[in-house]
Amino acid sequence: MAQQRVAVVTGANRGLGLGTSRALAKQGYRVGMVGRNRENLEAAAASLKAEGLAVEPFVADVTRQEDVDALAHWVEETLGRADVLVNNAGVLLGSKDFFHGAPASVFLADPDLVRQNIEVNTLGPLRLCQALVPLMRRHRYGRIVNISSGMGQLSDMGGYWVGYRMSKTALNVLTRVLAAELDGTPIKVNSICPGWVKTDMGGPQADRTVEEAVPGIVWAATLPADGPSGGFFRDGEPIPW
Ligand SMILES: NC(=O)c1ccc[n+]([C@@H]2O[C@H](COP(=O)([O-])OP(=O)(O)OC[C@H]3O[C@@H](n4cnc5c(N)ncnc54)[C@H](OP(=O)(O)O)[C@@H]3O)[C@@H](O)[C@H]2O)c1
Repeated sequence: MAQQRVAVVTGANRGLGLGTSRALAKQGYRVGMVGRNRENLEAAAASLKAEGLAVEPFVADVTRQEDVDALAHWVEETLGRADVLVNNAGVLLGSKDFFHGAPASVFLADPDLVRQNIEVNTLGPLRLCQALVPLMRRHRYGRIVNISSGMGQLSDMGGYWVGYRMSKTALNVLTRVLAAELDGTPIKVNSICPGWVKTDMGGPQADRTVEEAVPGIVWAATLPADGPSGGFFRDGEPIPW
């Protein structure tokens, strides 16, 4: 019997990460759910297990190299393989000050918060890819999905939230560099934008639900052998960088 496919999803305890974990598990993947808060993560994993889904929680902060190393060891020892990696964990940190109702103007952006956006949103995925691509290479299969954002599109760049925007544009660079270095291998890597989604990050006024956004993530996580690599997509359709 073929071995069960394994997916690793970061930031899996709520929002898009939880929705993606559920959807991939429903497609038959065994899902390693990664989160930094044990209590919240174990509660989220328990809720999916109660639905009869094959998920395993692992506590790791994607900004801590020792956590990511421990995660890679656990994936290899416990799950055996990593067919899919969804780099979903993310933060949207701006200025603590608000200026005439405009959040996080570049003129008020705290460089420390800019750095924290990049630590989680860009360097987290870099660490995860460095840790898990060797296992993908060994099993000659891999699908990496970097959850980016329209706020990182250079072709549609607006004001405010400079740290978040920089972190997502740089995440797209990571996608391109990885795709170039993985060219000719069975490992694909793409950026996706989920749209504006009702989560803790997106807020209640966002225009789509997690259930509407998740299929675009699952699409990139389950691409066929002749599917694209090194692209930027929303709902399975290419979008400009
Ligand atoms: N919602 C939107 O409208 C939207 C639009 C475009 C892109 N995105 C992207 O979609 C992804 C998911 O966002 P979401 O809307 O689902 O946000 P969310 O509800 O705020 O969830 C973010 C997740 O990331 C986790 N996380 C944050 N820092 C972490 C770290 N250092 N290590 C491990 N996990 C960490 C959080 O864990 P804790 O619970 O411990 O904080 C949480 O599970 C993000 O990359 C975001 O930038 C969202």
